[in-house]
Amino acid sequence: MQPHISFAGWRVALALRRLIAGVSIGATLLLVAGGPSFTSAQEKKPAVTATNSAGNAASARGKYIVTEVAKCGNCHTPRTSNGELDYHRWLAGGPVPYLPAQPGQDWPLLCPRIGGLPPASDAQMITLLTTGIWTTGKPLRSPMPEFHMTRADAEAVLSYLKSVRSGHNPTE
Ligand code: HEC
Repeated sequence: MQPHISFAGWRVALALRRLIAGVSIGATLLLVAGGPSFTSAQEKKPAVTATNSAGNAASARGKYIVTEVAKCGNCHTPRTSNGELDYHRWLAGGPVPYLPAQPGQDWPLLCPRIGGLPPASDAQMITLLTTGIWTTGKPLRSPMPEFHMTRADAEAVLSYLKSVRSGHNPTE
């Protein structure tokens, strides 16, 4: 067994040395490539940070309204076979999870996808969330609530909806 162990040890040492060499070459290349743009990136930094933090604050409030207050996900997220929200397909659209109390009502079958690219223009989305009126000039069908949010809240919700990427899980 002895020769075999030392052979394995030698292989590991060789692999490590190769790894270290690779990393240091990579770091040198990165430094060279990143060098010229480093100063200009530093100069631009304050403006970029200001926009991002304003955007992030709106988006964080939007997430709070969507997940904790208006509960958009209860309808606009599909469910797993045991009836729980499928957080891996957050706001990706799905069948309406409720039945109408009165038969014969014009009841929609689908809650459309609302995460990611919005289904209407920014102005139309804000109108929906502040007045309850959709692009048709009328409210959407029940059970979609007619929201009367403040403009700031509607903008925060829209900002959050746009930030939702495929596979985004709001509980993580
Ligand atoms: C109780 C269920 C329910 C909740 C909660 C809900 N929706 Fe809806 N939503 C619907 C249904 C059902 C429709 C489809 C209505 C129709 O077809 O007339 C809809 C439609 C929409 C549409 C139109 C999309 C399109 O492509 O036509 C938007 C936008 C929308 N909802 C956004 C939201 C947002 C944002 C929230 C949370 C702030 C929310 N909804 C909460 C059920 C819901």
